[in-house]
Amino acid sequence: MRSLIDIDNFSVEEIDGLISVAKNIIANPAKYSEACRGKKLATLFFEPSTRTRLSFEAAMLELGGSVIGFSEASSSSAAKGESVADTAKVISAYADIIAMRHPKEGAPFVASLNASIPVINAGDGGHCHPTQTLTDLLTISAECGRLDNMTVGFCGDLKYGRTVHSLINALARYKNIKLVLISPDELKIPSFIKEETIKKCGMEYVETASLENALPELDILYMTRIQRERFSDPEQYERLKDSYILTPEKMQLAKPTAAVLHPLPRVNEISVKVDDDPRACYFRQVRYGKYIRMALILKLLSEVNEPKLTPSFDGEDYIRETHTCRNVRCISTCEQELPKIFKITDKNARIARCVYCEGKINY
Ligand code: CP
Repeated sequence: MRSLIDIDNFSVEEIDGLISVAKNIIANPAKYSEACRGKKLATLFFEPSTRTRLSFEAAMLELGGSVIGFSEASSSSAAKGESVADTAKVISAYADIIAMRHPKEGAPFVASLNASIPVINAGDGGHCHPTQTLTDLLTISAECGRLDNMTVGFCGDLKYGRTVHSLINALARYKNIKLVLISPDELKIPSFIKEETIKKCGMEYVETASLENALPELDILYMTRIQRERFSDPEQYERLKDSYILTPEKMQLAKPTAAVLHPLPRVNEISVKVDDDPRACYFRQVRYGKYIRMALILKLLSEVNEPKLTPSFDGEDYIRETHTCRNVRCISTCEQELPKIFKITDKNARIARCVYCEGKINY
């Protein structure tokens, strides 16, 4: 039995397999309409969502299954102090598979350690959003006919944008991808993604503040929202919120074959006047999201009878209980009973990372 917590949990072959199943579902929806008859999906959303929750629910319903769940923490027993671990154990008695969104980074991972059914991370804080990444990969594959040999521009909030981090992580495993990272100085891609993903994989990349300069060379433009909810300083948000606005005039600088993606919701970073441009893929992307989630539910449910893959935190690669995560958004900093565990990632530099949120410590 497996869960999907981070896009790294799947090999490139498995991702390509999911994309292929999703395309097959698009072509033959009737063939899958009873595939999950009698199965239940629990959507546990501790943070707001439109697309992810409803696309998961639509996906399960279109597979012939049914759905239970909640859409806000205040209507669950989390409001009374129930832990993520206990919630996961309880829901395992009611459902066959869980999709969880949580504002605390690492919460779906904690759920997966404690559930006896597969857990899908539907977004944890600023950390990961692997099913958005699968959606993005299916969109690129369906719209461009390939997932390699392209220049991909990420624009906007590259610091807090979990969809950006996850998609870069996935693209790092495809051939000849060049990244153009477009952001204001304050919202640059975190250095650990640059060091441990982009540079490590040898991906070519440039950082720039100018969307106009970058546009002519892009095959994909991945626009993102400046995420008000992640800012601790409201003045900084006000200063940065309109850093980039894609307009029809700017689209004239883009290739005729370019594809514009956005995980949505948008605020005003793409003018509605761009929506009718055939290169604007973001509403088609929403539709792809439902199909790839159907493929994912099928895959994880097909593996439930296999032994549960539980990570072992034993051995000299791990540090236990001697340090505390410094990331205030980490689940381990708000659920005190969780063991404090760090994986050593660089012995020489004495760097380790929290197993829940990947926050860095020097030990
Ligand atoms: N793209 C995305 O995650 O949208 P929601 O927040 O509406 O789920």
